[in-house]
Amino acid sequence: MSYKINQIKFVETDEQRKAMDKVLAAHAGQNDAAVAVLEEVQNIYGYLPEKVLQRVSIALDKSTEELFSIGTFYSQFSLYPKGKYNFSMCLGTACYVNGSKEVNEKIKELLGIGEGECTADGKFSVNPMRCVGCCGLAPVLTVNEEVYGKLTVKEVENIVNKYKSK
Ligand code: FES
Repeated sequence: MSYKINQIKFVETDEQRKAMDKVLAAHAGQNDAAVAVLEEVQNIYGYLPEKVLQRVSIALDKSTEELFSIGTFYSQFSLYPKGKYNFSMCLGTACYVNGSKEVNEKIKELLGIGEGECTADGKFSVNPMRCVGCCGLAPVLTVNEEVYGKLTVKEVENIVNKYKSK
């Protein structure tokens, strides 16, 4: 099995390192604690950095392949950090029937990344969501705190370009 490893530069603060050391010490040798430990990794870093998974692998005596399998299987885990600008297209029913799938495809094409991924420069990520409660604006896109409604494939190109030029 092969995995697409992200190319994002890994940065770790002292606090994150210390918190992770504590988690690994508490679960050392516990081969069956992988999901619990990965939840801690996700909480500490916001995603599952490859370098940290290597440390988890050694501490739990579990292969990195198995850890990646768990990381890709459960939706609460992400192998990528969120980008500076996180594009979240609503794929809830009202948005979906109003074309959100096509708009989301266009966003991925324009940014050159797939769902749950982040660009190598850390600037953009794509993480679709379910209903955000403003169905009257369907289809809805959020970019961080900004909300865009009644979007079309044509309009989203301008929005992506706006953030690319920032
Ligand atoms: S379905 Fe998209 S906002 Fe409700």
